[in-house]
Amino acid sequence: MLVYLNGEWLPDERARISVFDRGFTFGDGVYEVIPVYASRPFRVERHVARLKRSLGGTRIDTGYTDRQWFDLLDNLGQHLPMGEGSIYLQVTRGVSLRQHTFPARTPPTVFAYARPAIATANRDLAQGIAAALLADIRWARCDIKTTSLIANVLLTQEAADRGASEALLVRDNQVREGAASNVFAVRHGRLYTAPADHLILSGITRELVLELARQHAVDVIEESPTVEDVCTADEVLITSSGRGMLAVTTIDGAPVGDGRPGALFRLLYEALQTFKDAVRRGEVR
Ligand code: PDD
Repeated sequence: MLVYLNGEWLPDERARISVFDRGFTFGDGVYEVIPVYASRPFRVERHVARLKRSLGGTRIDTGYTDRQWFDLLDNLGQHLPMGEGSIYLQVTRGVSLRQHTFPARTPPTVFAYARPAIATANRDLAQGIAAALLADIRWARCDIKTTSLIANVLLTQEAADRGASEALLVRDNQVREGAASNVFAVRHGRLYTAPADHLILSGITRELVLELARQHAVDVIEESPTVEDVCTADEVLITSSGRGMLAVTTIDGAPVGDGRPGALFRLLYEALQTFKDAVRRGEVR
């Protein structure tokens, strides 16, 4: 696989970073995952805007212009075999002997590659997925898409150990998001999801799904549902760049609604597929 590393394109087995890279020693970096449809990066302006917010929030200055980010992402999309998959892009604070303060004059490490899509299991689409409620043990700047993902990793594994494929994260009795997704509850035809504040990652898929819901005259309420709201919801949905949209049909082993993906899931899932097809045809970005 060809990867991009600090301005160079090279086979992954030849790409090397230092053991003193702060991404390795501190998790001192940020990242993006950008879906690609027919070689076109999805909602690329929004992904670059979020990357810049993450870089700003962590005070990492790459000196890259928007044009450079767009060209890099377009290039990765063009070189993706079959044109369908996703781009992973990571920026770290670069290489320095281990000290917590920022190093002076060290260039950030910029790394990116594109990988082919992993198809969503038909069973997950047709039956929905199992989720587990877990206490949100992350820090208070979840709006920054940082590579320091130890809490998300532990939470996802804990969910997996309980037979669930996503963790629904609870703070102050409110369900904010998933360990790697945004979460929505459907109650009486209304769509509830946590506001895009510092306690969630403002998902690019989330934003689009809210737009699509409004276009279909669905009431959208950006307020965190409580644990009780989610457990007694008619439907629960998750969204992410990797998984698109999935229905959550059991929580801690108990069925959500009638235990099957519901009407609003089907409506929004279809709307999302239609949007992706328009991206494939180059009609929207
Ligand atoms: N994760 N919330 C968290 C904590 C996430 O990690 C993600 C995505 C999302 C959804 O954001 P988006 O729709 O922009 O993908 C929400 C990515 C896919 C990952 O870590 O692989």
